[in-house]
Amino acid sequence: MPITILIGAQWGDEGKGRVVDWMAASADIVARYAGGDNAGHTVALDGEVYKLHLIPSGILHSKVVSVMGNGMVINPDNLVREIQALRKIGVDISPERLVISSRAHIITPAHIALDKAKELALGDDKIGTTLRGIGPAYLDKTGRAGIRTGDMLLDVEEFAERLVAAIEMSNEELRAQGLDTLDALQAAQSYLQAADFLRPYIRDVSIYLYEALKAGKKVLCEGAQGTLLDIDHGSYPFVTSSSPTAGGALTGLGVGPLFVDNVLGVAKAFSTRVGGGPMPTELDGAIAEHFRGSGANFWDEFGTTTGRPRRCGWLDVVMLRYAVGVNGLSELMLTKMDILSGLDELKLATAYNIDGELFAFPPVTNEQLERAKPVYETLPGWSEDISNCRRFDDLPSAARDYIKRVAQLCDAPINMVSVGPERDQLVMNPAG
Ligand code: IMP
Repeated sequence: MPITILIGAQWGDEGKGRVVDWMAASADIVARYAGGDNAGHTVALDGEVYKLHLIPSGILHSKVVSVMGNGMVINPDNLVREIQALRKIGVDISPERLVISSRAHIITPAHIALDKAKELALGDDKIGTTLRGIGPAYLDKTGRAGIRTGDMLLDVEEFAERLVAAIEMSNEELRAQGLDTLDALQAAQSYLQAADFLRPYIRDVSIYLYEALKAGKKVLCEGAQGTLLDIDHGSYPFVTSSSPTAGGALTGLGVGPLFVDNVLGVAKAFSTRVGGGPMPTELDGAIAEHFRGSGANFWDEFGTTTGRPRRCGWLDVVMLRYAVGVNGLSELMLTKMDILSGLDELKLATAYNIDGELFAFPPVTNEQLERAKPVYETLPGWSEDISNCRRFDDLPSAARDYIKRVAQLCDAPINMVSVGPERDQLVMNPAG
């Protein structure tokens, strides 16, 4: 380390939570820098399944301090609920173990109402958001009208006043759309209690991290969502409203680039997406069902936050190559390799054919992307269950060839693959 940034290299849900959980064993601090409770990071540990939406996945390691950065948008009620739920199952959470930036923005109940209203107004063109108020909260942030976690340090009347004013402001928008407004005073009540609860956790995260880095601590930055959902670098407007890419870690935590040693990308061994927007390798039918699973297991392809079935398709190397470039990835990690077992053959989209022209990277407009026809390379599949493999050489040769080919096509080494949801279901690839 000192700083390792770990990002999602696809459309989110790459299995970052389990990789962060594994890497956190050698970190002092795990810091989230973007997004809010639209994220759903799942960690399986000793048969227990932990679903984290706001708190960094490092919280499951008792020696790690978890940090929530200024780039996040936080629903205080949901954060308190998450802390209490984790405490109930024995996870120790105190201000020594969880640090919340004073500069993160607060999602109000009115932001959630506005998120729903906006999606409704878009009709068939809706983005398919998680309806957590993410977009409206970031809109108020960049419009310089938001309220911040640091406002919870004010005295209670002053915080209440700001909160009510912010809700009233959003109410005007709801009214303009002919929708029900919120009783601002009532909506603010639970937030006042949450503020009381969260106050001891709030501080200046940038200075906290600067001092920790100067003291030689190792920081792991945990990305949420994925590169292709990035507000700048994703398929706009079908994106989230924050910067999940590596650059977002610096602005979302207030740390300088010279501390960064590594940028790691996590990608699933196939593609998934939730919500609207282009997805060139999307499949219908038996293979999509194979990838998605039945929903009986927590690792099946149904949203952790929304429960929506995920769209599934072959691995899109064009998008992965783009993620390697946009994030400057030093390494890729492939998750869910075990799900590929049992398919006769596997396809990799190595390029797009758009109106007869070949593209190695995504085209610049969504209109072109909508017309993109994947150019597939077919590789042999394997039938063996690989979930007990722990060494690269234990994998069937077809699985090893798949990994090597993806690494070659993306021009990034693949040093780790996961073969199941448990902490130890990992295969290291010393050859990269
Ligand atoms: P929002 O972040 O709720 O505004 O949703 C914007 C888009 O990002 C929608 O397509 C969501 O499905 C997608 N999205 C947001 N968070 C996640 C995530 O954690 N995993 C996968 N997709 C996400």
